[in-house]
Amino acid sequence: MYASRPQAYIIRGGKKGRKRLGILSRILASSTNALLDRVEPIAGAQIIDIGCGGGDVALELARRAGPEGHVWGYDLDTRILDLARAEAEAARQTNVTFEEVDIAGQWPRRAASLIYARFILTHVTDPAAVVARAWKALEPGGTMIVEDIDMEGRFWDPPGAAISRMTELYMEAARRRGCDPTIGRSLVRLLGHAGFESVDSRMVQPYGREGDVKDLARLDFANIADAIVSLGFMGRGEADALAAQVNAYAERSDTTISLPRVFQVVARKK
Ligand SMILES: C[S@@+](CC[C@H](N)C(=O)[O-])C[C@H]1O[C@@H](n2cnc3c(N)ncnc32)[C@H](O)[C@@H]1O
Repeated sequence: MYASRPQAYIIRGGKKGRKRLGILSRILASSTNALLDRVEPIAGAQIIDIGCGGGDVALELARRAGPEGHVWGYDLDTRILDLARAEAEAARQTNVTFEEVDIAGQWPRRAASLIYARFILTHVTDPAAVVARAWKALEPGGTMIVEDIDMEGRFWDPPGAAISRMTELYMEAARRRGCDPTIGRSLVRLLGHAGFESVDSRMVQPYGREGDVKDLARLDFANIADAIVSLGFMGRGEADALAAQVNAYAERSDTTISLPRVFQVVARKK
């Protein structure tokens, strides 16, 4: 158990949050798998997945790590950790352990050969301190893989006032909680300052006119609405009205919506 600190994370957790993360993982499965394919060898690796959420990537890493390897997934959302444990059990994946850890605080004493971080550095108020802890936990020669967002890069077509407002509100809420919604573009610099040598850096940006990408846009606002209301940006009624407008825009078959830009960086500790 770790000391609680002010909540920087603005997205709803638990079962509803898990549903959103499942959709996100489906959208990103091909780009994340291609990224993991470029990092060899993962078999036998001792891996920490920080801010693991529902464990979609932790399970993929566990499959790749095989019986000689192990994955520890750290998250502070106990409900989402329970769901991740149940999914690991259903998949009979025994080389993965999910632990309640606030990665902005002290980490369990454990050495890793690989640390993975997707969409978590954008949610902490001191990402440099988290990267420094990752550096400390990594063995020499170890690898750090980070995927993170640049929300400013989200696009949509045709112009839509509600989705534009939703994207602005997301960035405003994240910044008010001390987080960086455009951190993706800074990852190489952030890792370099911690002593890492970046070996691969790419950018991907899924977008679409139907299916998961549209569903995600619909869920995005619902999942940040509580934070928007509690920060006093708008009342519940106004937030509900905006959510309805975002839904209507996403439901149109002639609209295109993208995810934020996603930067993928692989770095080594020499
Ligand atoms: C956007 S989700 C990403 C989950 C997962 N990495 C993925 O890509 O599917 C961010 C996760 O980080 C967790 N989180 C936020 N702040 C955290 C902290 N300080 N320590 C540990 N986990 C945290 C949240 O509970 C959430 O599950």
